[in-house]
Amino acid sequence: MKIGSQNYQSIWFDESDPAIVKVIDQQRLPFFFETKELRSVDEVFTAIEDMTVRGAPLIGATAAFGIYFATLEITTQTNIREHLSNAARYLISCRPTAVNLSWAVNHVMKKLNIDNEEGSLSERALKAALEICDKEKENCRQIGNHGLKLIEEISNRKDRAPVNILTHCNAGWLACIDYGTATAPVYFAHDRGIPVHVWVDETRPRNQGAKLTAWELKQHGVPYTLITDNSGGHLMQQKMVDIVITGSDCTTRTGDVANKIGTYLKALAAFDNGIPFYAALPSSSIDLTISDGLKEIKIEERNPEEVTHIEGITDGKIQSVRICPEGTSAANYGFDITPARLVTGLITERGICRATEKDIMEMFSDKPK
Ligand code: MRU
Repeated sequence: MKIGSQNYQSIWFDESDPAIVKVIDQQRLPFFFETKELRSVDEVFTAIEDMTVRGAPLIGATAAFGIYFATLEITTQTNIREHLSNAARYLISCRPTAVNLSWAVNHVMKKLNIDNEEGSLSERALKAALEICDKEKENCRQIGNHGLKLIEEISNRKDRAPVNILTHCNAGWLACIDYGTATAPVYFAHDRGIPVHVWVDETRPRNQGAKLTAWELKQHGVPYTLITDNSGGHLMQQKMVDIVITGSDCTTRTGDVANKIGTYLKALAAFDNGIPFYAALPSSSIDLTISDGLKEIKIEERNPEEVTHIEGITDGKIQSVRICPEGTSAANYGFDITPARLVTGLITERGICRATEKDIMEMFSDKPK
């Protein structure tokens, strides 16, 4: 997507220096636009863990380059199979909820385990990582095309009055490679002159909505309004929301959707007010091996300080301030599960389907189970 006049992806590889991969430092946004160079498995692990890079598809793509760096670390003394499987296990342990992490690492490892495959281990790992980036970019473009139809329908129904879309967290191009998942239909509608307006949940505790989604929409000139996480229900009751579109970190074969904490509450309010609730996601975020999201998806718990403190900019510096009495204990669950019964549909690269086992298995029958 464009920043000023320059096109950017959230991660890119520069052939002129094959020892590095570049990413946008999402910890510094929206206050500073800075990029970071990753050069090793450890730097990839840290960038995912401290959320320099975040968002399911980008976490997967970044980890794929982590395996590439592991191949670059091989010496004549290295036990290759052991070294690579240790690196894979280490990277997969970084964050537990987004299935893209293990999917991408295992995808690259499979490519390396094929004996008669052409090219060196590093060439194969790099090729696989770059293919994941290209595929995720194309997935999001297709999600944009399919989701656009939903927005067009509402727009026609409203005689071209702005379509009000509520979104939670950041499922934008920063969280993917380009276009985004939940945001792609919005960008495509806006680019086609269809009036849209986005209600952006701040998304405590790390404020991915306030910081990243608002920044993306501002760059693209899409009208938006920042709201507290607790405002969505009221706006829905007041008929000020036409559709809710969020991303997903992991969706089960039955249609249960794991996403940023607070998504479930938006789905409940949408259901109670008869407002369509869609999760937009690439097939790399669908785990067909699990069927019960509540029982089988691991919910990340992060540092309680993310809850007791809040980050912002003052005097030109990013500062963190405490918002509660000293010594307050806090719980910090990163994700929740929206059961399939509250999901109107899934917007995927292959089209829109209902959040049912029948529809998902029909649409992704070729995907390993
Ligand atoms: O903790 P984060 O910022 O990685 O959480 C991100 C989300 O919950 C996104 O909605 C999800 O990963 C989908 S990104 C297309």
